[in-house]
Amino acid sequence: MDIIGIGYLGFETTCIEQWRDYGPNVMGFEIGAAPASEPDALYFRTDDRRHRLAFRPGAVDRIEYIGWEARGKVEFHAAVQRFRDHGVDVTVGDAALCETRGVKELIRFRDPAGYQHELFYAQKWLPRSFQPGRPHGGFVAGKRGLGHVVLITPEYGKELDHFLTVIMGFHWYGAGAGKGKTGFYRSKLNTYTSHDIGYGHGPGRAGIQHMGMFVASVRDVGETYDIVRKRELPMQMTLGQHAQDPHISFYHFSPGGFAIETIHELSPWHDDGFEVNPEKLSLWGHELVGPILGPSVRTPEEVLDPAGLAALAATAARNKA
Ligand SMILES: [Fe+2]
Repeated sequence: MDIIGIGYLGFETTCIEQWRDYGPNVMGFEIGAAPASEPDALYFRTDDRRHRLAFRPGAVDRIEYIGWEARGKVEFHAAVQRFRDHGVDVTVGDAALCETRGVKELIRFRDPAGYQHELFYAQKWLPRSFQPGRPHGGFVAGKRGLGHVVLITPEYGKELDHFLTVIMGFHWYGAGAGKGKTGFYRSKLNTYTSHDIGYGHGPGRAGIQHMGMFVASVRDVGETYDIVRKRELPMQMTLGQHAQDPHISFYHFSPGGFAIETIHELSPWHDDGFEVNPEKLSLWGHELVGPILGPSVRTPEEVLDPAGLAALAATAARNKA
């Protein structure tokens, strides 16, 4: 599938007013216009797209959907056909949902871990329209997607791996240097970074562990770091440099209970041409000073909706068989 990366993400949140302050004033996001269908929601822009992050008020803090961007109409329809050929249950988004997301067409589907995904193309965009919420050099998204997410699942096994690599056509990047059972993947057209999505095995657990976003300069990492420290927001990992990507980053906890990794790419990443197996996660820094799993990682019953739980249960039954 000709997917370029994650185009948008949707969340449910218990603390929308905190996000309304935190988004622009800590992260530098722009508050965009909420669609008419979701007047209570908070939509953030991080570049010239209509939006990248959507937060709907709700009873729990959780990720609701991950929106993958197909290169265009032809690639989108080829992907839809591929899902159908592989027997993946696909729901076609109606005109109202397309308007809410600001895209031309979209489909919805589940991964074997029960998470809701969408695939779309042609999101609304206006050049030179992004105005950061505070002085900020901007985010790097565009042709690489907005960044990456790492999700926790009690059922990280062959079926999920097959879904991502064989059906969706992602590159398997490796297990990283994390402890436990983890897997990192990047979409077929992502030649900019090692992973768009990672899954970590957590018995009895689910939820988003962290998301990573790329900022245009190292100054943006440093200034975000200063604001996080000044506000005494909980830190997860101090400033450091990963072994698997030429990145400098730090991780702190967002109001949603998941960490945000603020990343600047020190030099262009290239596919190494072999599966990397780093001796350690980071070359320097990245001292773990908070929990590796924050309060956003809960039981599947708390963070998955009924259809997601059903998909997870079906996977669990097959994994057991
Ligand atoms: Fe990350």
